[in-house]
Amino acid sequence: MNIDKLVGLIGWPVSHSVSPAMHNAAYRELGLANWFYVPMPVSTTSVKDAVMGLRALGFLGANVTVPHKEAVVPFLDELGDSARAIGAVNTIVVEEDGRMIGHNTDADGFIADLKERGIVVHDRHAVVLGAGGSARAIVYALLKHDCKKLTILNRTKAKADELAYSFGRMFLKAHIDTDVLEKKIDSCDLVINTTSLGMAATKGSSPWRDDLSFTREQVIYDLIYNPKQTLLLQKATHDGACALNGLGMLVQQGALAFEMWTKRKAPAALMRAAAEEALFS
Ligand code: ATR
Repeated sequence: MNIDKLVGLIGWPVSHSVSPAMHNAAYRELGLANWFYVPMPVSTTSVKDAVMGLRALGFLGANVTVPHKEAVVPFLDELGDSARAIGAVNTIVVEEDGRMIGHNTDADGFIADLKERGIVVHDRHAVVLGAGGSARAIVYALLKHDCKKLTILNRTKAKADELAYSFGRMFLKAHIDTDVLEKKIDSCDLVINTTSLGMAATKGSSPWRDDLSFTREQVIYDLIYNPKQTLLLQKATHDGACALNGLGMLVQQGALAFEMWTKRKAPAALMRAAAEEALFS
């Protein structure tokens, strides 16, 4: 076996990640037998060494995941537009001349998933739950695609204010607060959960009030994909709304990174199947 095209994942922890399964399945599918995607656990004190090591070891690039998406930025030679605006990198490309470029495919991955499902952002009203790193990528994506109205709701209102302010836009932001939820819900088209509420560790929690119903016209998107159906999505399904988990975004951000590295069209459906198998079988 002659593996001479290496990429990988920098994060901590990375053992649970489905990205290696997703990318390696795609290489096999396209007959790229000399490519391999390696999980690389990197502690917070070793981020600089790890990034520099990519070049030293002849890697063609890497994905970056929590908690290092922001920490890698100072060690890169250049940032793409999305990475600069979001302030975080999830994909590094090592160019032929050795320059390392930081990209962010999370925002475009989110939009690509919506597009594939025929969901339009232009001129719509979106409510974003949460104001952390993931929310930042989602807000950037929504603004880039001309979302008409944006509401950011977060447990810590100051962080919602900060997020809105950093994009230089005046949109509504508030606590995840019963009154605001109640006033916003009827007029919004899309609700996106970026908080960790509903993940395995907080499986019984939801960022949404149980007595506030969704309508059939609304799209409820939860960035969480494990469990497949959070309490929020169960409620959305129960109310007849369109309920989507974050697996599509995970696959699309991976497909975009794959295309940056290999310059080949990513087999997204196959990557999705590989991710599902790694997660749930
Ligand atoms: P990520 O990169 O996944 O976005 P993060 O930057 O740590 O992670 O952001 C986590 C988000 O989930 C934040 O909006 C956080 O709210 P705070 O800003 O108030 O911390 C939100 N969050 C986490 N746990 C929560 C909880 N128990 N209830 C409500 N919101 C929560």
